[in-house]
Amino acid sequence: MKTLIIDHPLVSAKLTTLRDKNTDTPTFRKLVEELVTLLSYEATRHLIVKETEVETPITKTKGFVIAKPKPLVVPILRAGLGMLDGMMRILPNAEVGFLGMVRNEQTLQPSTYAERIPGEIKNRQVFVLDPMLATGGTLVAAIKLLIDRGAKDVVAICLIAAPEGLKKVESTFGNDVNVTVVCAGLDEKLNEVGYIVPGLGDAGDRLYGTAD
Ligand code: URA
Repeated sequence: MKTLIIDHPLVSAKLTTLRDKNTDTPTFRKLVEELVTLLSYEATRHLIVKETEVETPITKTKGFVIAKPKPLVVPILRAGLGMLDGMMRILPNAEVGFLGMVRNEQTLQPSTYAERIPGEIKNRQVFVLDPMLATGGTLVAAIKLLIDRGAKDVVAICLIAAPEGLKKVESTFGNDVNVTVVCAGLDEKLNEVGYIVPGLGDAGDRLYGTAD
């Protein structure tokens, strides 16, 4: 497994505003989109492209198009949905699948309540959107499902990761499977109820106004 923590002044500044408890829901939602677009730039670094020819007003030259099969983007509902537009801005032709997962707030174990993944994902590059990599339970379950269905490699885009979550993804997949986690910040720890510290609180509540 590879981890990329994006060290960029725009990413750090946007993440700081997201963390601020006084940031309102519309601003929070807009910043999540912007941040994901910035993270996507690095997350798609190894996107498979195919050589093509293009005719400019001057002459013919070689270029590249995104190879088939199309990459697949999978937001994990609910909070991952707030990341989708930011991702699709740079990958507008990707296919989108959905995974609805919820973590039991007592046991912290994930369960799947909705699944809409294309039947055929063999050899696809898959981008999973999940803002908070906390215990890692949800992300590990999502990646396992996608790998079992044939995904070629999986890049998880998160806003914030906790060391505990990264460790869980790493110990589950090691180097056997091609998994990369791209995030804007690596935080200190989880608290006793599984929230990331310092974190930004409940990403879903902050995106959808239930925190106000
Ligand atoms: N999910 C969240 O939304 N926030 C956390 O800190 C942990 C999990």
